[in-house]
Amino acid sequence: MSEPEQPLATLLEASELAAIARRLGREISRDYPEGVVLVALLKGSICFLADLVRELPVPCELDFLALSAYGDGRTRVRVVKDLDLEVAGRDVIVVLDIVDTGLTLAYLLRLIALRGARSTVACALLDRESRRLLPVEIGYVGRVINDEHVVGYGLDLDERYRNLPSLRVADPADLRAEPSEMFERLLRR
Ligand code: IMP
Ligand code: MG
Repeated sequence: MSEPEQPLATLLEASELAAIARRLGREISRDYPEGVVLVALLKGSICFLADLVRELPVPCELDFLALSAYGDGRTRVRVVKDLDLEVAGRDVIVVLDIVDTGLTLAYLLRLIALRGARSTVACALLDRESRRLLPVEIGYVGRVINDEHVVGYGLDLDERYRNLPSLRVADPADLRAEPSEMFERLLRR
């Protein structure tokens, strides 16, 4: 296989990801001194959540939601793992890996509002705002990115690459063509 022209650029190193979590942790702690419920969207947000939560010196409860897309163009979503916590009357921050079209976030914000949360705000590691289909407000943004597929630090392509410690940009076609070889190359720094 010939080498792709634009191979696997690093978008954010582990140290830059840590700095983002620190900055957002400071902002959230300042805004919610009484504490907050973090609702993380599985699975892409796990690394970000793990870093973020350790930057929050305020009372903090964690819960998880998993959604699955279905239907024509996979534009409809349903809950496959629901919340365990009661969020009525609570201040909730939804933690996401990336906001792309905004469909997922819009769904989450509505769901949590329907559960009677006192307030609901989004915190996204990445914002690919150029691809938005639905206008959504994101209270805390790690980094705005261009229209490129990213993997690593929890983010996947077909369930692979979540375990890379940095965020990498990669063409999905290249990744799908030779997944194992690409994984080797992604691990090489
Ligand atoms: P949205 O509903 O279009 O905003 O999509 C958000 C979800 O799509 C995210 O929570 C991710 O799971 C997934 N996603 C979108 N872009 C990427 C990407 O570049 N890498 C990995 N996952 C992505
Ligand atoms: Mg995914």
